Amino acid sequence: MKRCILITGGAGFIGSHVVRLFVNKYPQYQIINLDKLTYAGNLANLKDIEDRPNYSFVKADIADFDTVYALMKERGVDGVIHLAAESHVDRSIKDPFTFARTNVIGTLSLLQAARLCWEASPAEEGAPRRLFYHISTDEVYGSLQMDSPLFKETNKYDPHSPYSASKASSDHFVRSFHDTYGLPTIVTNCSNNYGPYQFPEKLIPLFINNIRNRKPLPVYGRGLNVRDWLYVEDHARAIDVIFHKGEVGETYNIGGFNEWRNIDLINVLIETVDRLLGRPEGADKDLITFVTDRAGHDLRYAIDSTKLKEQLGWEPSLQFPEGIEKTVKWYLDNQAWLDNVTSGDYQAYYDSMYKGR
Ligand code: NAD
Ligand code: DAU
Repeated sequence: MKRCILITGGAGFIGSHVVRLFVNKYPQYQIINLDKLTYAGNLANLKDIEDRPNYSFVKADIADFDTVYALMKERGVDGVIHLAAESHVDRSIKDPFTFARTNVIGTLSLLQAARLCWEASPAEEGAPRRLFYHISTDEVYGSLQMDSPLFKETNKYDPHSPYSASKASSDHFVRSFHDTYGLPTIVTNCSNNYGPYQFPEKLIPLFINNIRNRKPLPVYGRGLNVRDWLYVEDHARAIDVIFHKGEVGETYNIGGFNEWRNIDLINVLIETVDRLLGRPEGADKDLITFVTDRAGHDLRYAIDSTKLKEQLGWEPSLQFPEGIEKTVKWYLDNQAWLDNVTSGDYQAYYDSMYKGR
């Protein structure tokens, strides 16, 4: 069945995997990738699919309502998968306004555009269902103690960082558009993702790069915080399943049942990089440097994704040892990608590339 899907934030880490999956798997769909190309957006993440006839890229800001509305109306968008966001907790501590603008106002602008477009032209008989699918995070649920049960969809919201507060607010706006205007929405809350194309400000790519270059590894506090890691392609597969089969108005948690203390994960990264580079085992352990803790640092996130498994049959396909091996290899094999995104001038290059599209 033909359809036109707007994916926001498709030049970022998770978004690029979602765009690739949809473009490859659904040649009958038109996939529009709308992205502002902030520091985190990089069209090189999509080189392999950029010339496909069912793919197009639009450089725009989700908070620019007029542009978003005109695009959705002109192209007849019947599905939105919304990933665009400011995503890094440390940046939100330094600059909370940008997070409120993109994550809250940007989401509101997309919701309003979808609502006005879809109300003005009701779907034809037999047309695919319309859906506004909002990608959120487990951080909205707050911080777990070590012995607390995992986050369920029914947990109350308790965000602590400006990032998670902005994501929580956007989730509330999405649900309010469902309840008030009848907009068909779904929200998912996912745990920490890892894999290729993640911007090297986040723990895993930053530390792989630093180990390779024998630079200090800044471990916040004592490294005892716990995160639940999911391979990014498994998240993209979950998004595909939920976009097509999820129940409108519902929330689904997505996670890996894969909890790691930061310090243990960091030791795995050191062992893996050293082994793959032929260095003596554990040679780089002395790079570990304990630094001042992140302000408001949540102790533990861990997702219970039983609902998703029982209702829609999704579960992670990749076990962590295989996923982390693939990930470390990818960053070691793609040093040029890392050098490019850390060089500071890659943004100017892609700005000039997109002009004239
Ligand atoms: P990312 O920072 O790698 O990518 C974000 C993308 O959004 C970039 O391409 C950027 O250019 C774009 N963008 C930012 N502001 C924009 C704006 N105003 N208008 C248009 N585009 C804009 O983020 P990510 O890690 O891929 O996360 C994607 C989504 O998934 C986010 O909503 C995030 O909250 C959520 N999430 C991430 C994780 C994770 O572990 N990374 C886990 C759970 C949920
Ligand atoms: O849980 C989902 C969230 O995961 C997403 O919503 C966010 O967008 C994503 O950035 C991620 O947030 P975290 O704060 O958990 O990820 P980060 O990679 O920044 O940090 C992971 C853990 O590692 C965290 O406990 C902080 C710690 N850390 C991080 C960095 C960058 C360090 O100890 N040192 C570091 O230099």
